[in-house]
This record gives sequence, C-alpha cells and structure tokens, in this order.
Amino acid sequence: MGTILDVNTRRKTQEPAAAPAPKAPSRSQTPATKRVFIKTYGCQMNVYDSQRMADVLAPIGYGLADSAEDADIVILNTCHIREKAAEKVYSELGRIRQTKEKREAKGGAPMTVAVAGCVAQAEGAEITRRAPVVDMVLGPQTYHKLPEMIAQLARQDGQVLETDFDTLEKFDELSIDRDVDGFAAFVTIQEGCDKFCTFCVVPYTRGAEVSRPVGQIVAEIRALAAKGVKEITLLGQNVNAYHGAADDGSTWGLGQLIRHLALIGGIERLRFTTSHPRDMDEDLITAHGDETKLMPYLHLPLQAGSDKILKAMNRGHTYAEYRDLIARIRAARPDIALSSDFIVGFPGETDEDFEDTMRAVEEIGYGSAFSFKYSVRPGTPGANLPDQVPEDVKSARLARLQDLLARQQTEFNQSLIGKTIPVLVENVSAKTPGQLFGRAEYLQGTHFMGGPELVGTIVNVKITDAGRNSLSGDLA
Ligand code: SAH
Ligand code: SF4
Ligand code: F3S
Repeated sequence: MGTILDVNTRRKTQEPAAAPAPKAPSRSQTPATKRVFIKTYGCQMNVYDSQRMADVLAPIGYGLADSAEDADIVILNTCHIREKAAEKVYSELGRIRQTKEKREAKGGAPMTVAVAGCVAQAEGAEITRRAPVVDMVLGPQTYHKLPEMIAQLARQDGQVLETDFDTLEKFDELSIDRDVDGFAAFVTIQEGCDKFCTFCVVPYTRGAEVSRPVGQIVAEIRALAAKGVKEITLLGQNVNAYHGAADDGSTWGLGQLIRHLALIGGIERLRFTTSHPRDMDEDLITAHGDETKLMPYLHLPLQAGSDKILKAMNRGHTYAEYRDLIARIRAARPDIALSSDFIVGFPGETDEDFEDTMRAVEEIGYGSAFSFKYSVRPGTPGANLPDQVPEDVKSARLARLQDLLARQQTEFNQSLIGKTIPVLVENVSAKTPGQLFGRAEYLQGTHFMGGPELVGTIVNVKITDAGRNSLSGDLA
C-alpha cells in the first residue's frame, strides 16, 4: 500500500522523495478492487484521521490511489483554521470536477467526491451548494460511518451529509488494527476543545473536549509496536488537558498516561502535541524530567507576548505566567527545546503589543515555531472585535517575527554541531546512494552515511553540519 498523503501532510522538514523503508507487515485485508485517494490539509490530527479513513475503507475493498485520476472515491480531508486553508478546498474541488468530467466523458469509471474534516463540519450542506460535484460531506466524528455512507450513496441519488458529534462512539467503532507506514505514528488520545480562544474555530469544528479511555490507547499503541513502530506522537487539540478513564475507574492525566505508555515493549520515543500552557500540570512537568522516553521537545503555543492581547484572545494566562512555566519546565529538563505558534495582527494589536511578542521570543528562545497573520473566522468572537489590523501591517510584523524565529531555529540547530545525538532512522535516501535519513529527538531531519540495515533503529550520530531545517553528521 502506498502513502495516502500528499506533501501537505508531510512533517515540515521531511525529505521529499526517499526510497521506501522496508515495510512492517501489513494487516491482511480484502483484496483491493477499488481505489480511494485521500488528500489531507491542516494539522497532524487530520493526518491521523486520513489514515483511519483508509483503515475503515480497506475491509470493504478500497486500496489507495496515488492521484484523483485513478480513484473511485476522492476524499478531501480539510482544515478550517484560516481563511486561506478553507478556500483551498474550493479550488481543489474545481480541479477535481474537471478530472471527473473528463474521465466520465471518455466513458471512464464514475468518481465519488467527499469532503471530510473541519470545513465539512463548519460549512455542512453549504459545501454541496457551492460545489455540486460533492457527493458526501462528513465531519471529523463520523469517519467510522464511511462504509455505511458509501452504501447509502449507492442506493440513492443525491448527496449524503453526516456531521454528528459523537467522538466516543467514533473511537469505540474504529478498529485498533491499523496499517502502518514507517516507524513513527500518530495516535489521537484527546479531541475537541473547551477553551474558546477568540480567534479559533476548533471548538466549533471538533466539538467539546473528549479523552479516549486508557485501555483503548494502550491497545492501539501495542498493536502499532507489534508492527515495528518505535515512536508515538500523542495527539489532541488540547492534549495536556487529557483526563481519560483508566481500567480501574480512576481518571488519568497526561503525565500518568505517558509513564504507562513508556512501559509498552518496542516503544522507544513518546511525544505529544498540541498542549496549552494552562494545562501543563506538575506531574507532566516532572515526567519531562524523569521519563527518558519522553522526547526533550515541547510545543507550547504562546500566540502573543502582550498581556492585553493574550486577554483579548482569551488564552487565560499572562506572559509572566508563561515565562515562569517555561522556567519550571527547563528546571526539570534543561536540554528541552521549545516550539510555539504565534499570531500577529490580532484585533487591537498595536506596534507596542507586537514589540512585546518580539521581546518574548528573544527572552524565551525557541528551537522552532509557526507564525501566522490573524485570519478573521466568521462565527468566532474575534471576528466582531473593533480595531482589525490592516493587512500590510500584519505582513510587515509577520516578516519581522519570522526573521527572528528563523534565526533562532538556525542557531539552535547549529548549537548541536559537535554533539552526538540519537536519531531514529526512517529510510534510505533516494538521491544519495549510501545515505540514510532519520529524525533527531528535536524533530530535525538528519542525514548521514550508513547501511540500509539501520533503517528502523535508533543510532547515535555526531552532528557536523546544521542548516535551518536539517542536520547532517556521521555515525558515532
Ligand atoms: N490547540 C492549539 C492550536 C490549534 S490551531 C493551541 O491551543 O495552541 C494551530 C494554530 O493556528 C494556533 O496555535 C494559532 O496560532 C493558529 N490559528 C488558529 N486560529 C487562527 C486564526 N484565526 N488566524 C491565524 N492563526 C490562527
Ligand atoms: Fe483553538 Fe484555543 Fe482550543 Fe487551541 S486552545 S484549539 S487555539 S480554542
Ligand atoms: Fe485545521 Fe481542524 Fe486541525 S481546523 S488545524 S484540521 S483541527
């Protein structure tokens, strides 16, 4: 089975086209007689969801297609976080309509078009009005119903819409038997958000915060480990708000869950994303200090450095509280690298407020970060705030911030030169014979020479060179 994901879903620094890694054994399945093409936009949870949709379709005879042209069903797994992300879906639907019409005019097989993900949840039937080519609209909590929806579509003319909000039912229905591709996997442990930051659509598209039960997560990760997976990234919109039911009826936080997952044989590395500063409790901070399988890398979004803006965003903490939190985390794990998301040009952000963000970045020092211009999202409180910031001001602020963040990222990577660090080898390079590609603990892609037998193992690499996005070195 090939990869279902287009470039949008690759991790930021992943190699564009490397030779396939020796594959872990795949589950046995109905021979594929039909093809599905899934294109993924947005966050890592969508990447996970796309894999799960493929898993749900495999038993009813769907293999993965490499492009829309070859597919019986095309699924766009969409993101609604910023206006640009949401609009991309409609231009893609225009292209798909042309492909479909061309193929069907030549007497080719019919094509079913589905829109899944957060645009599906946010816009529902509006999608089929704007893009009549769409046959199916399914929200993020309905993927387990895909086979039923496909059958329904075959029985009736017209369109099928499914935007229910039953996250636990979805997880109960999804099988834990997943196909794996490589040695690192995502596992959703928490979904939805109750924080209601005033800029953000997620509480509306993913629903209320729900934590998966501990036993279900353990079963899924055990099955992944049995197929050779070494590294797990635990996913949640507010992953550190995790409060799942354990088998004995008690409720576990993320720290406790991580300590338990670290005991699963074969699992060498654990990560989690995305966390919220308000949910970073003492137990989780301690876990960063004493759980060696928990990677020394933490994505903890600050969004803005000005207290006035943090308050208007409803983030629920001040900059000083964030800075103190970081100090406690660094005290527990001195070599931890931090990453963040930032929004520039939130309504009411003055030059002075923006300088507070720049100062905060200087003061904290990040290993990497994402930054965005504020995008007005209809239906969120931010959309109605006065003092929207002009586009050119946002652009100028973003350019300055990204400059600073890029400099910090390069400096951080260069600070690793001369050090010997563990790297999980993902694959053999397609471009340079004898070269391997892997991932460091801080997530940078790392190149070095070595034999293909090392793929899937963790090796020590002495770093000799570092750029903004990747490292290179020699086997130590
Ligand atoms: N749950 C995560 C964020 C998920 S969305 C958290 O609380 O940090 C990922 C990032 O997109 C956010 O951190 C924010 O920086 C950005 N984002 C969300 N809504 C946005 C908007 N309306 N405009 C610009 N950026 C936005
Ligand atoms: Fe959005 Fe805020 Fe929830 Fe993160 S915490 S998903 S930014 S509402
Ligand atoms: Fe986008 Fe939905 Fe993820 S809006 S960022 S795909 S939770």
